[in-house]
Amino acid sequence: MTARLAQRPLGRSGRTVSALGLGCASYWAKPRFPEARARAVLAAALEAGITLYDTGASYAHGHAEVRLGRLLRELGADPDALVIGTKVGTVADRRGRLVKDFRPESVTAQVRASLERLGLERIALLQLHGPEPDDLTEELLSALERLRDDGVVDLLGINGFAPVIRHATGLAPFDVLMPFLSVMEPGNAALVRAAAETGQGVLVAGPLARMAFAPPLARWLTRPSGLWYLARAVRHGPGPLLRARALRPALRAPGWTPAELALAWVLEQPGVASAVFGTTTPAHVTALTEAAHLPLPDTVRAAVARVHGL
Ligand SMILES: NC(=O)c1ccc[n+]([C@@H]2O[C@H](COP(=O)([O-])OP(=O)(O)OC[C@H]3O[C@@H](n4cnc5c(N)ncnc54)[C@H](OP(=O)(O)O)[C@@H]3O)[C@@H](O)[C@H]2O)c1
Repeated sequence: MTARLAQRPLGRSGRTVSALGLGCASYWAKPRFPEARARAVLAAALEAGITLYDTGASYAHGHAEVRLGRLLRELGADPDALVIGTKVGTVADRRGRLVKDFRPESVTAQVRASLERLGLERIALLQLHGPEPDDLTEELLSALERLRDDGVVDLLGINGFAPVIRHATGLAPFDVLMPFLSVMEPGNAALVRAAAETGQGVLVAGPLARMAFAPPLARWLTRPSGLWYLARAVRHGPGPLLRARALRPALRAPGWTPAELALAWVLEQPGVASAVFGTTTPAHVTALTEAAHLPLPDTVRAAVARVHGL
């Protein structure tokens, strides 16, 4: 039986979340990923004590929210015992391309559509999906506060790149911030610390850096999900894969996989409440849960710091 995960305070929000969160996005969310496999990943996460589930209105054109809501119900999970988070602000335009839309009335309508797809009466964590600092207008912040006052959402947050995370650090009404942080992007550790010091809960997106530091080519070339991950890596260009090459020798320790070491590195960064990772493999949920209890070997911490000149 998998050891159950530690729960950590989500800033000063009064809620706790498991040190690992499950990202219900990417290939997991696609209709072509078999429902039984998606269900097995979710079942492994519930069994491991994962209480944070992160999805988004735009993931797989709404299918991620529908699948997450449906499978949690089928698995008998109590939504009040979990933090089910979704994101709005990314919508499909008339040609089906994903564009940003943070107009207050649109955000309110997007939230109602997410509630419907998830099959929930209330969203525990609503995040803005990749806004720019200029998108955070007074009107938008008021609309978000109204959603909270109306009991439609509980916590409010932002998932995005460094400039908006810096801008929103300590900014009301945001209880939660979700930057990217990984052994590939250690610079964001300072942002995490600063946000946590203001009392905001900090979730980390992409903590495994999409495995750029140890591309699992055999898996990528032999599974439908792998081919999708490979295509995604190619779409992002050779940059991340080339930059990550220097990290490969650093992420080695007896008894650990590179993914487990990368995760342990994120979990020991001050201020991190939960690392939200993606997977299509139930055994990976179990392996990462086991690793989440272990301290990062000193040699690995030092080697990662050396690679980044820290
Ligand atoms: N990336 C973004 O642009 C983005 C943006 C906003 C929010 N987020 C949030 O962050 C979450 C995670 O992002 P992500 O999925 O892009 O990246 P990630 O978690 O850094 O990496 C996912 C990759 O790691 C692999 N993996 C997971 N556990 C593993 C293990 N124990 N051993 C080996 N490989 C393992 C997965 O493959 P398998 O399927 O084979 O396990 C998958 O290829 C998302 O689900 C979403 O909730 C991401």
